[in-house]
Amino acid sequence: MADKFIPYGCQYIDDDDIAAVVQALRDPLITQGPMVEKFEAAVAEYCGARYAVAYNSGTSALHGAMYAAGVGPGDEVITSTMTFAASANAAVYMGARPVLGDIDPKNYCLDIAGFKKAISGKTKAVIPVDYAGYPVDIAAIMEIAHDHNLVVVEDAAHALGAIRNGSRVGSQADMTMFSFHPVKHITTGEGGMIVCNEERYYHRLKLFRSHGITRDEEMLTANEGPWYYEMQELGYNYRITDIQCALGFSQLKKLETFIERRNELAAHYDKALAAVDWIEVPPRPPGECRHAYHLYPIMVKDGVDRKEFFTYLRAASIGVQVHYIPVHCHPFYRRCFGYSAGDFPVAETFYAKEISLPMFASLSDADQDSVIQHILNYRPAV
Ligand SMILES: Cc1ncc(COP(=O)(O)O)c(C=O)c1O
Repeated sequence: MADKFIPYGCQYIDDDDIAAVVQALRDPLITQGPMVEKFEAAVAEYCGARYAVAYNSGTSALHGAMYAAGVGPGDEVITSTMTFAASANAAVYMGARPVLGDIDPKNYCLDIAGFKKAISGKTKAVIPVDYAGYPVDIAAIMEIAHDHNLVVVEDAAHALGAIRNGSRVGSQADMTMFSFHPVKHITTGEGGMIVCNEERYYHRLKLFRSHGITRDEEMLTANEGPWYYEMQELGYNYRITDIQCALGFSQLKKLETFIERRNELAAHYDKALAAVDWIEVPPRPPGECRHAYHLYPIMVKDGVDRKEFFTYLRAASIGVQVHYIPVHCHPFYRRCFGYSAGDFPVAETFYAKEISLPMFASLSDADQDSVIQHILNYRPAV
């Protein structure tokens, strides 16, 4: 057994990040201070979006986006079944029904024809997921969605820095969510953000993040003095701290290098695994696109025992993972929404064959070569 554990994902923190956090700790406000807006403005500018609202997780940010979109009881929200449960849970939090869709085998993202078919008179929003960092065809989704008055909330937890047809992810959807969990491209420990171009979403996102409370004079129904604020809606405490935003701001300066490194690692895996006839490497987006490679998901071909291969890699201290158990297979979704195994065959086949290999900016060439060598040494029993 190799002694050094190589995870599938991991943060990269340098001395500049540490200095930024230490400075934030010395500042007078460690939450609700200036670093939050500074980080928001920097991410909005990076993506080419007008507004950004930071949350204390990607999950709470998605919850905020559902609120901002006006999703409520009786509504339906369409998303891909091949995602982390949080994408669908956001609709459930608002009392809406999550309508899951199968994936396109060409990119593992929501199948667009299936999405169109799933639209009903109750559909309020769609949450396309940029699975693994592959940027979905957001223009095609927006066109269909807007013909049906749906709000598009792109779940780009995997896709900060990705580019679709020359535009950065975050610049086109009605709202776009990013996650700053440590395995993501940049981290704030825990954290998330919504970027958008419309002021009405921006205001609702801010209100929801902080108890539904406002001090904005234009929004108040009365004003009894300088202390005065109003709780106008039921919101939450989903605020992120200045300490976290100082880390995020410092990390953002390195994002381009991180994405370049992830693409370099992906190109090396693609080349090294091309000759392995029982493995399928992940698809590359067409045209003027950039994959963000949050994950590097390979598929084993028919007849190869995924569990045995997975166990072999884990025994070699290679921290592979499987992304994801389809949402409709979880007991909660079966029990509460009537889904069952067999509902989405493409996603289920993908799930049965998928393994995510180590992919993170600080993965060294030597560690990646060790992962590759272990794969090349493996002889599947077929
Ligand atoms: C596709 C997707 N959506 C949403 C989330 C939730 O983000 P967070 O962990 O920041 O709450 C994740 C987290 O891994 C994710 O992978």
